Amino acid sequence: MVISVALIWAVVVGLCCCLWLILGIRRRQPGEPPVENGWIPYVGCALQFGANPLEFLRSRQKKYGHIFTCKIAGRYVHFLCDPFSYHSVIRQGRHLDWKKFHFSASVKAFGHESMDPSHGYTTENLHQTFLKTLQGDALPSLIENMMENLQSVMLQSNMLKSSSSEWEVDGIFAFCYKIMFESGYLTLFGQELDGDKTAARQQAQKALVLNALENYKEFDKIFPALVAGLPIHVFKSGHSARENLAKTMLHEHLSKRIKMSDLILLRMQLNDSLSTFNELSKARTHVAILWASQANTLPATFWTLFYLIRCPTALKAATEEVKKVFESSNQKVDPKDPQLVLTREQLDNMPVLDSVIKEAMRLSSASLNVRVAKGDFLLQLDNKESYQIRKDDVIALYPQMLHFDPEIYEDPLTYKYDRFLDENGQEKTCFYRGGRKLRYYYMPFGSGVTKCPGRFFAVHEIKQFLSLVLSYFEMELLDSEVKVPPLDQSRAGLGILQPKYDVDFKYRLKKQ
Ligand code: HEM
Repeated sequence: MVISVALIWAVVVGLCCCLWLILGIRRRQPGEPPVENGWIPYVGCALQFGANPLEFLRSRQKKYGHIFTCKIAGRYVHFLCDPFSYHSVIRQGRHLDWKKFHFSASVKAFGHESMDPSHGYTTENLHQTFLKTLQGDALPSLIENMMENLQSVMLQSNMLKSSSSEWEVDGIFAFCYKIMFESGYLTLFGQELDGDKTAARQQAQKALVLNALENYKEFDKIFPALVAGLPIHVFKSGHSARENLAKTMLHEHLSKRIKMSDLILLRMQLNDSLSTFNELSKARTHVAILWASQANTLPATFWTLFYLIRCPTALKAATEEVKKVFESSNQKVDPKDPQLVLTREQLDNMPVLDSVIKEAMRLSSASLNVRVAKGDFLLQLDNKESYQIRKDDVIALYPQMLHFDPEIYEDPLTYKYDRFLDENGQEKTCFYRGGRKLRYYYMPFGSGVTKCPGRFFAVHEIKQFLSLVLSYFEMELLDSEVKVPPLDQSRAGLGILQPKYDVDFKYRLKKQ
């Protein structure tokens, strides 16, 4: 009898182990973070996480503490929630890989051959290309071209009623989209004009950009599904939109353009010299850059302008700052002769606009910072605890947790335009949690080696946009009591979230 009970137990335990293995269920080993496998094989916790990542992570943090592991779409993801321990992930270069995840996500979404030098298609160091052409000495010419493009797009006839005193009504997101997409596109990819400034040529140029805008929008809709691993062939119109964009970016077409940015010029040169990509693959790498340059900037511009128009004190402070900067450089606002310029130094010295942009991004950013373990290793946390991490596991930071932490940001759901200003009206950089100063408190641009290389240009272009709309236009919400539109969570993890719906406003030229 004793033998048969033991035998039954052995069989039951054996069967359970087989089931764990078949379903890919992980059992927590000593020294590992608590693990949650979820109920659905392979999918794990993906659905609950995807529905509302912030709520999901907060509830697990309450249950398990600062670090826990969730199975998400077949991968084990360790979520680290203690901001004081972020540094241990951000500096763990030796044990953590960032390339695998980033390069494979780009291949899935844009369909080019791998940009990872270890796969043998290219020897380009993409990271270096970005740093060289988007930062430092590359910034002044980006700023100069963007300012010119913004003014020409913003003040062209299709944006304004024929009588300048009449109000034009539009959605704020639609307005930002039109202006920022075209200006950003022209700034990076240049113009087709080739010196020919006739009306017909300009119209053809406009049609090309509008076409790119429509294709971009269609492709952007399916972007989250592509990153999640769905094949692009499932999405007919999204697929053809991406291919249409790629066709316009074949080197034979790009090489006819003028005023292209250093970024695209260098990328073309390196595509042609250091890679074995076919022509379509090269073009798709440029589509990837177009997406990276617009996908976060467009919603970030929307949220900044929306909150600004909705808050009279913020609008007043921002308008005064802009006015002062133009006056101090003796510039006159004249929509008939739009020649306003802002230098990099002037842009870097606009603390109110800086704070207004940061606050809007704090409220709308939901990026996921991801690294993959190169091998088994011990992750040391700030509180001296350490955890065993297995090879190929993912470690993730979700900075929205800090952006909405009431211990760091008092009343975190409320918009306070001056939250990032100190008592002297300058940039505030000291934020605390539990009395301790935080190193990481604001992370819409990611972290460490994968931090957005376009972040300086992004902030500059939004400041330029704001400076110009505040100088040229009067703006009012159609409904002054309008509620903040909810964030579209379907893009959580990818950066700045879009609003679920647009908000109407009216604008007209200011009387100068
Ligand atoms: C408000 C605007 C923007 C936000 C919030 C933003 C945010 C981000 C984030 C979160 C990442 C990924 C970082 C990571 O994986 O850890 C990223 C990557 C990137 N961003 Fe931005 N970005 C913005 C605008 C721009 C602009 C204007 C450009 C310019 C061309 C740009 C170029 C890039 C590129 C090339 C990458 C990929 C870098 C790499 O894989 O090495 N971004 N951005």
